[in-house]
Amino acid sequence: MAEKAILGFLQNNEEITDSGLFSAEFNLDHDEVINVIKRLHGFRFIDVQDIKKETWVLTDEGKKYAVEGSPEVQLFLAVPEEGSISKDELQKKLAPSVFSIGCSQAGKRRWVQMGMQVSRRVQNVEDEVKDQLLQIQEGKEVDNDSISSLKARKLIIKETWTGYSVKKGPNYAPERKEVATDLTRENLQNWKELEFKEYNFNAKGAPLQAGHLHALLKVRKQFKDIFVQMGFEEMPTNNFVESSFWNFDALFQPQQHPARDSHDTFFLNAPSTTRTLPEDYVERVKRVHESGGYGSRGYNYDWKREEANKNLLRTHTTAVSSRMLYALAQKPFVPKKYFSIDRVFRNEAVDRTHLAEFHQIEGLICDRGLTLGDLIGVLKDFFSRLGMSKLRFKPAYNPYTEPSMEIFSYHEGLGKWVEIGNSGMFRPEMLLPMGLPEDVRVIAWGLSLERPTMILYGIDNIRDLFGHKVDLDLIKRNPVCRIGI
Ligand code: PHE
Repeated sequence: MAEKAILGFLQNNEEITDSGLFSAEFNLDHDEVINVIKRLHGFRFIDVQDIKKETWVLTDEGKKYAVEGSPEVQLFLAVPEEGSISKDELQKKLAPSVFSIGCSQAGKRRWVQMGMQVSRRVQNVEDEVKDQLLQIQEGKEVDNDSISSLKARKLIIKETWTGYSVKKGPNYAPERKEVATDLTRENLQNWKELEFKEYNFNAKGAPLQAGHLHALLKVRKQFKDIFVQMGFEEMPTNNFVESSFWNFDALFQPQQHPARDSHDTFFLNAPSTTRTLPEDYVERVKRVHESGGYGSRGYNYDWKREEANKNLLRTHTTAVSSRMLYALAQKPFVPKKYFSIDRVFRNEAVDRTHLAEFHQIEGLICDRGLTLGDLIGVLKDFFSRLGMSKLRFKPAYNPYTEPSMEIFSYHEGLGKWVEIGNSGMFRPEMLLPMGLPEDVRVIAWGLSLERPTMILYGIDNIRDLFGHKVDLDLIKRNPVCRIGI
């Protein structure tokens, strides 16, 4: 319909100056005309130019008054011609918003006398607001003052109307044949009679429904690459459940240490205890806790096997490091560089920066005669590969390392030093009961994966990064990982 009208009109006329007026004249729906114009333009049957016009349209409230009359007139008509009506009575006759707007507008215009009783002050009123609204609805001109007052009352808003002017295009013909769009078997059989639609090489393809990597996975990959470049091997961290023995006791963490409390650690109900531990090693660990040895005085308390047997969700991947070092000690010594990046669990109150689980990045080097200087050097190398070359170290305490150092990095964006990790040299009380040679030292460090990821991706609430509240769009849109914190 519309297509025929447009092409037919252009056969005898130079131009359709305004698609809106054209639609009105030929009694066509303007939206349909616009669709046809876009289609014909796509086939280059016509050339088009946008026309944008600002018009006033009625808001929902405006539309209501255009039908029912303005609140002030509704109110006026509810007041009797003679005598008066109580304010309460009047309120019952009108909708709440009509009553309140009506009172103020009719009062302002001095149409009614307001008080406990309400009475008319004039005989008749005209509903100018309704008339103006109707005029606007019909597309007629309304004076500026009325426009401002209707706008102030939010009865009308500005809308941009879009239409087109249309001329013949390079492929113009008074009628358009249906063109074939697909290379089907039938179309190929009589291709000579058919006209084929041209390919539109500028059309965008449909977006692919593909998987997307979570920001934590991208940053994890970067860390992994750095470790691998530095010659580290990955440790097997595929057990979230660990015994207290490997998580704490093997690390020379005393059994009454506050971190071993259920306020800090998630213990398992079933199975609540571990089945097997290497008995002779357990015996040496018990002894070093109770009375020391290897140059240590120990902690001087009764070490309990039941406490060591308790299963828990590992609180750090250092539990895996202790298993790996023990395994290493069972064979003739070879130096090793190990790393892991995996999940750990702590019974923490959840807030903007803490969850009850996070990912820990851990690195360790095991070799003869290593010193604190080696640890500092390796940390500088490791962190400079992440773009963090300004480092500072602060003495700290871990039950399993001595000396221990917190690692700080200068954050250019925040303009301050931020803590980024923890490190140290594993204690002889931990290494010697395992059976490692006496001159073997282990330097190690740990940090969270979440913290650098949040800094890199500008996320300030950890719950936006991990857990059930994560916006899937964030995962689809986030950029390829950048390193350089
Ligand atoms: N396990 C420590 C932590 O939970 C990190 C660490 C690893 C510290 C290795 C020193 C050596 O923070």
